[in-house]
Amino acid sequence: MKEWDTIHKEKWSNVNEEPDPEVVKLIPILMRNGARDVLDLGSGAGRNTLYLAKNGFNVSALDISEVALERLKEKDSSIERVHGGMNSVPLDDSSLDFVLCTRVIQHGIMQEIRTAANEIKRVLRPGGLVFIIVPSTKDPAFSTGREIEKNTKVDIDRPDGNMPHHFFTREDFDDIFPDFEIVALTERDRISTFNENRPTCSWDFLGRKK
Ligand SMILES: C[S@@+](CC[C@H](N)C(=O)[O-])C[C@H]1O[C@@H](n2cnc3c(N)ncnc32)[C@H](O)[C@@H]1O
Repeated sequence: MKEWDTIHKEKWSNVNEEPDPEVVKLIPILMRNGARDVLDLGSGAGRNTLYLAKNGFNVSALDISEVALERLKEKDSSIERVHGGMNSVPLDDSSLDFVLCTRVIQHGIMQEIRTAANEIKRVLRPGGLVFIIVPSTKDPAFSTGREIEKNTKVDIDRPDGNMPHHFFTREDFDDIFPDFEIVALTERDRISTFNENRPTCSWDFLGRKK
């Protein structure tokens, strides 16, 4: 989608290259679970993809933006890059041990979010793990912009604010991920590097496919 290419070029040409601290903390959990085949869904320029690769996982990066994937290629051309969308992941059923999806599935109306969640379920092996970061209704940006569907806004106060953003409640997780055991679910205040270092509030969800 060209809009995401424009955002990567104009707003995120210089985003943080460090892996997400929550992803760093996940590594021992993934190792204990014997995870090997991993997808970074909505990888962006691949800061977390690169960290997973460095830690020995067989990781692929999928993103809707060719610009983002090209940036990853410049850093490490050996990582498999998949140009595609979260609503139709071009990977086989039950082919992965872990899906990482940080700050991505909020970008859609609820029907698209449900489809993405089903795609995550489809590509995971039974017992596979998913880790998701999405904005909470306590995020300051939730009070800005225009509502296009319940808790889904556009024109919010964000560099990518013209794209849809769904703000999640605790109940959303039971609703969207009924086939996952909730291993951990935490609502966290943090500073977002994608959001010009402004305060945000988001959910971290670690789930296991039943
Ligand atoms: C805020 S960035 C997060 C990047 C990365 N996951 C991270 O945490 O550093 C959101 C990413 O989702 C991608 N994206 C947006 N909509 C998508 C979709 N429908 N399918 C796949 N990727 C998408 C964007 O191109 C962008 O790279």
